[in-house]
Amino acid sequence: MGSSGASTEGRLSFRSGSFSDGAALDFVPETGCLSIVVLGASGDLAKKKTFPALFNLYRQGFLQPNEVHIFGYARTKISDAELRDRIRGHLVPEKAASSDLSEAVSNFLQSIKYVSGSYESEDGFRQLDKEICEHEISKNSQEGSSRRLFYLALPPSVYPIVCKMIRHCCMNKSDLGGWTRVIVEKPFGKDLGSAEELSAHLGELFDEQQLYRIDHYLGKELVQNLLVLRFANRFFLPLWNRDNIDNIQIVFREDFGTEGRGGYFDEYGIIRDIIQNHLLQVLCLVAMEKPVSLKPEHIRDEKVKVLQSVLPINMEEVVLGQYEGYKADPTVSDNSNTPTFATAVLHIHNERWEGVPFILKAGKALNSRKAEIRVQFKGVPGDIFKCKNHGRNEFVIRLQPSEAMYMKLIVKKPGLQMSTIQSELDLSYGQRYQGVTIPEAYERLILDTIRGDQQHFVRRDELKVAWEIFTPMLHRIDDGELKPIPYKPGSRGPEEADELLAKAGYVQTHGYIWIPPTL
Ligand code: BG6
Repeated sequence: MGSSGASTEGRLSFRSGSFSDGAALDFVPETGCLSIVVLGASGDLAKKKTFPALFNLYRQGFLQPNEVHIFGYARTKISDAELRDRIRGHLVPEKAASSDLSEAVSNFLQSIKYVSGSYESEDGFRQLDKEICEHEISKNSQEGSSRRLFYLALPPSVYPIVCKMIRHCCMNKSDLGGWTRVIVEKPFGKDLGSAEELSAHLGELFDEQQLYRIDHYLGKELVQNLLVLRFANRFFLPLWNRDNIDNIQIVFREDFGTEGRGGYFDEYGIIRDIIQNHLLQVLCLVAMEKPVSLKPEHIRDEKVKVLQSVLPINMEEVVLGQYEGYKADPTVSDNSNTPTFATAVLHIHNERWEGVPFILKAGKALNSRKAEIRVQFKGVPGDIFKCKNHGRNEFVIRLQPSEAMYMKLIVKKPGLQMSTIQSELDLSYGQRYQGVTIPEAYERLILDTIRGDQQHFVRRDELKVAWEIFTPMLHRIDDGELKPIPYKPGSRGPEEADELLAKAGYVQTHGYIWIPPTL
């Protein structure tokens, strides 16, 4: 960034890679005033995700009441009390409500101050800066103690102007030292051209080290487990390649439509909303080579490499769908060509993966809600047990709901007869880690930002390659050249998608279903 910026990233107290011996985080906690600014404070994302995540961090002692102050900023003219009332009901799930928590909620809400102002004019941002400064002075700020985190929970159209305002009005405290970091939410552009334009613009205002492009899938427990699983277990090392794996599916399904978000969704569609970011990030972690170390840059280098090895998508290996009734939403255009479902087969041109299809599938208004990775192995050579009749070995990582990993395998059917059945080795988190609360993705990622750890955030070059992969297809959809096939809400999506799956080599097991264990 420009030399006059307030970034002093060299002073970070993040000491090493994210894992030390025993896989615990190794950070020297920073002290001093921390200001967290939620821009778009009265919007849905802030209410449902950002503030609850901040509350959970506060409740667990990661945000110290004597150091942190939270600012909400938005256009709506409301008082501090009104903002607090809007947020209150979202902080604690009903079933968890207790008197201890209600005290914590009140204390947390007291630390929130609201500033209303426009996104385009300097007045509001100057006022915001003044409020932050007052807070910093009241906390008796010292050299190195002004830490400012800006969370953009905003429509992407205002990112450029808001970032400019932050840069010009809220980053002049270099005399106090510390840092400024900015969290931006997808969508980062609509295609390669617009994403690059946005990146260039942000790049003029901030250093890459100050920008945290959030993809909340990277904050999910089982996504964070992928590298450990792959590189800390001898089991997987020799098997994780084209010699043993037949195909890999990364699947996202939701059993509800785009209600309430039709306007946004219709402009973006399922590929930009889910596949180009969330599922592609998961693909990177499944397919990348072992990083040199756990340093964020080493991990992100490997992610970029694997993305660079993805071949252009063949339209014969894509099925698009749109659920019936989607266009009845008044915020959706009557002749919308936007897909609410897509399956696309990606091929990675490298030594490890040549010939293994990666099937990315995402859909809204389907028959179930889940996200999972399915690694399907090849059949056993010289199959004396006729295993083929039962289906293949499959390793499934269930990201949500009911986090689990299970391995479908063939075993002898218990009893006198020598016959075989399919069963599973099952690591279900609810059962294995009873009493452990799995943190929300946003909670983790905000904490990473405060700690200055960019490992789970998308780097500019990663974003560019991700757009390169999908832009040609997206343009053809936008031009109406590729049309989505209608499907019934509550179904599996278009039948053509299952046919494509079978063509790619996926063998569905019939008569076997994994049921998450009940406690
Ligand atoms: C968001 C998408 O990024 O992820 C939504 O914009 C989607 O359309 C959501 O519903 C899914 O997130 P999760 O964590 O519920 O799987």
